[in-house]
Amino acid sequence: MPRVTFLPGGESADVATGTTLLDAAEAAGVELPHNCGGVCACVTCHVWVERGLDSLSPPAEREDDKLDEAVGLASRSRLGCQARVGDAAVVARIPGNRIAS
Ligand code: FES
Repeated sequence: MPRVTFLPGGESADVATGTTLLDAAEAAGVELPHNCGGVCACVTCHVWVERGLDSLSPPAEREDDKLDEAVGLASRSRLGCQARVGDAAVVARIPGNRIAS
């Protein structure tokens, strides 16, 4: 099972392939905001993927559209409720100074 690690705290969890980063955060005991409940209708679950980006499920058009609203948008940005873990370990950074949306 791939390991997902969250920064800045370094908490991690081993999760099944196909698990979302949001569910992995919960498994790791990390608070990753998810105001819309994980239905790709907000951007509070935005993370920067520092390792393993290519192993994640590819973003759907709706996620790409939504990500445009994210503060600190970067090429390594994903929505935690949409990105699913593949076979490789992932390191994701939770942005600080969030602006609620
Ligand atoms: S929880 Fe709202 S988009 Fe992910």
